[in-house]
Amino acid sequence: MKERTPLVKTIGLKRYFYSRPGFLARCLLGEKERTTKAVDGVDIYIEEGETLGLVGESGCGKSTLGRVIVGLYAPTAGQVLYEGKTEPNGQMIFQNPYASLNPRHTVRQILGVSLEKRGVPLEEREDESVKLLERVGLTPLHLDQYPRQFSGGQRQRIGVARALAMRPRLIVADEPVSALDVSVQAQILNLLEGLQAETGVSFLLISHDLAVVHHASHRVAVMYLGKIVETAPTESLFENPSHPYTQALLSAIPRLGATGESRIRLQGTVPSAVDPPPGCRFQTRCAHKMDICAEMEPLPVEIRGDPGHVVWCHLRASKS
Ligand SMILES: Nc1ncnc2c1ncn2[C@@H]1O[C@H](COP(=O)(O)OP(=O)(O)OP(=O)(O)O)[C@@H](O)[C@H]1O
Ligand SMILES: [Mg+2]
Repeated sequence: MKERTPLVKTIGLKRYFYSRPGFLARCLLGEKERTTKAVDGVDIYIEEGETLGLVGESGCGKSTLGRVIVGLYAPTAGQVLYEGKTEPNGQMIFQNPYASLNPRHTVRQILGVSLEKRGVPLEEREDESVKLLERVGLTPLHLDQYPRQFSGGQRQRIGVARALAMRPRLIVADEPVSALDVSVQAQILNLLEGLQAETGVSFLLISHDLAVVHHASHRVAVMYLGKIVETAPTESLFENPSHPYTQALLSAIPRLGATGESRIRLQGTVPSAVDPPPGCRFQTRCAHKMDICAEMEPLPVEIRGDPGHVVWCHLRASKS
């Protein structure tokens, strides 16, 4: 089969954060410099017009991965390629649009800043802004209003319009509906789906809400402590979760969990991204741990008969 170039591809992507403790902490408590391995070797791809859902516990590195992909953070190692080039063409929308919109700017100014960055001449900016507002379900009457004058859902629409102003090929939506009422969540998700149908924009959809990810994603990637542990087309992942971590994650939602099975409780403490365990990072909490899990990092294994369903787990490697 001929390999197509995906819209976005990450190769061995890493992003570490270094923190140097203050003088007292170093001298009195003996604290050393710490390295947080927030993203630690991620290889994913996103096709044009595709939504990739990204799930995993708090602190596993989802937002950091999203920020590196759109170019807000430089990678510590590895690469992000947009159609084979290193020029990023992604924008972000955030969980709390209110915090990410300048409260002293009108919508006209907020969109103006992005249009200016894209090089749209001053005299065309009003027309462009009106088109953007209409595209996200707002009207020209909103141009001279301030963020505080809008509802949560409307503010998220402004966040989407601001992202669209840059004509991105990819939008990283980081918990885009978590702060909204359920009825409004559906409206925003429909808006994003419509934009994708119209423009072919791709999404990386980061969400804690597995029902949202199930509904809105073509494929899903599961992240644990800086690494991807499983990725699959959405239906395969939800019907046949193959990594013990994914199984535990999905069993927490009764409606989507495996039928009749009760919730899997994870054993052990959540290890830290400062000092991740050797071998498989999930070994300290895994009910199926084998000797090799503490010794070697698992390699990706494709589930037999399920193309595109890949899992990083020694258990699967020994079965195939
Ligand atoms: N700017 C930063 N400086 C230092 N450490 C950071 C920074 N941003 C994130 N981290 C650390 O990197 C790790 C991953 O954080 P990140 O915010 O990417 O996780 P997340 O999966 O998005 O979590 P959540 O679901 O809570 O949003 C955490 O240990 C976090 O403390
Ligand atoms: Mg986050």
